[in-house]
Amino acid sequence: MAIQFTAKTLDYAKNPRNQGEIEQATAVGEVSNPDCGDSTKMYLVVEDNIIKDIKFETFGCAAAVASSSILTEMVKGKTVDEAYQVTEGAVADELGGLPEKKMHCSMVGVEALRKAITNYRNGVVDDDED
Ligand code: FES
Repeated sequence: MAIQFTAKTLDYAKNPRNQGEIEQATAVGEVSNPDCGDSTKMYLVVEDNIIKDIKFETFGCAAAVASSSILTEMVKGKTVDEAYQVTEGAVADELGGLPEKKMHCSMVGVEALRKAITNYRNGVVDDDED
């Protein structure tokens, strides 16, 4: 059976908002989904604990792209503490719901964002960099 996405999910998958790289990011975080290998990288610009700018790059399925994209809109302007608390369920709700089998796809963006925030809290831009 074909997977049913909401119109909003399809829109964000086809026209992702905030997609791309921020060269002078305050912090970045990258996470891969161990089940499928899809990955997301989040770039943050943080000033006074507020997320002033955020972009993402996702190499993955439509649900992962849409989830990561809408997540960037949900947390822009929030404090890093507020952003850290956003769950994959909240992301899926914002998209109008995700099919059960695609729920895990909203995780990569959330985890990449949390990793970037952890790097920011630890005073490093990217803990994967040599
Ligand atoms: Fe890999 Fe969706 S199938 S994130």
